[in-house]
Amino acid sequence: MPNAKIAGIGFYVPDQVITNFDLMKVMDTSDEWIRERSGIVERRYAKKHEETPTTMAAEASKKAIERAGIIKEDIDFIIFATLSPDYYFPGCGVLLQRELGITKTEIGALDIRNQCSGFIYGLSVADQFIKSGMYKNILLVGSEMHSMGLDFSTRGRAVSVLFGDGAGAVLIQATEEDNKGVLTTHLHSDGTNAEELAMISPGSHGGYHLQDEEFGFPSKEELGEVFVYDGLLDNKTYYPRMDGQLVFKKAVTKFPEVIMEALQKTGYTPADIDMLVPHQANLRIAQFVQKTLKLPDDKVYNNIMKYGNTTAASIPIALCEAWEAGKVKEGDLVCLAAFGSGFTWGSALIRW
Ligand code: UT7
Repeated sequence: MPNAKIAGIGFYVPDQVITNFDLMKVMDTSDEWIRERSGIVERRYAKKHEETPTTMAAEASKKAIERAGIIKEDIDFIIFATLSPDYYFPGCGVLLQRELGITKTEIGALDIRNQCSGFIYGLSVADQFIKSGMYKNILLVGSEMHSMGLDFSTRGRAVSVLFGDGAGAVLIQATEEDNKGVLTTHLHSDGTNAEELAMISPGSHGGYHLQDEEFGFPSKEELGEVFVYDGLLDNKTYYPRMDGQLVFKKAVTKFPEVIMEALQKTGYTPADIDMLVPHQANLRIAQFVQKTLKLPDDKVYNNIMKYGNTTAASIPIALCEAWEAGKVKEGDLVCLAAFGSGFTWGSALIRW
């Protein structure tokens, strides 16, 4: 059975740097609050009308493809994880295929909507496809453009200061080498608190429906309001909302739990980890996990200070930075873990 190794990796972040001080100009917040609560100093925002999740993903993908030493025509399958797609539909997978100029149609494109754990879910899917022998080269990306969908008024500050834009990509390739690549992945979900970290609209939960009319068809005036969901404008449900404390409490429990699950499955202990790359949601969460697992500073990679929370893109961006800095080397045991909206969470162990 082939193993799935990361043969190439790349990331892209927009040039535009937005500091905490920039945000203080539009909402009632402070550099001190943001740093102390989250660790974030600055984040990147994409250029409106020029960059989208797909264009950023394409930049990251080109690096991953080149570093894998393949050509784009070698790609068998695309997996695209994002919560901020270019369109409501179709998904970004096909848009990325087009953006990369891949014209062959013997290729599949899958979109993953698992928010912060989207990359790990995607990695797990890719691993199964490689292990089953179905595909040899899978392009997996996480890309987000949060800046187009945040509430920049004081009302939205608890969420808006945390998020940034960017993309990360990996080229996952079949290898016959033993003890190489993805060793194990673990996925979890619990929908009990689905709305506690969510963007509710647009969605089919609300809106105007013909069946709302007891008699006949709706009037012309009513038809004009087809796209105005019940309460959408008043409640601002088209902005993300989060019960930060609930998510924080769950995250600090689930991160160590799911990491230990991966270690136990493969017979390792925390001391065997060469590099932990946690989803970059909050520096305090990452530090808590580090302390729980008793990992030294040089075995945990964090970059939330520079980019904020880039959701599905955060793990591949951080992994790529760590690799470029020589902190992830051939033969290393790399652990990835994420927790977020859904709630969904997961982990992966990779022999680099
Ligand atoms: O990637 C997805 C997963 N997400 C996470 O894992 C995030 C988990 N949660 C967190 O990281 C933290 O809960 C936050 C960073 C979101 C918030 O930190 P907190 O210490 O839990 O703060 P809080 O929500 O309890 O808010 C404390 C105070 C409130 O004021 P009062 O009620 O005490 O007067 C907020 O209104 O801070 C206020 N506040 C702000 N003040 C200045 C909230 N946002 C801001 C802000 N600037 N941006």
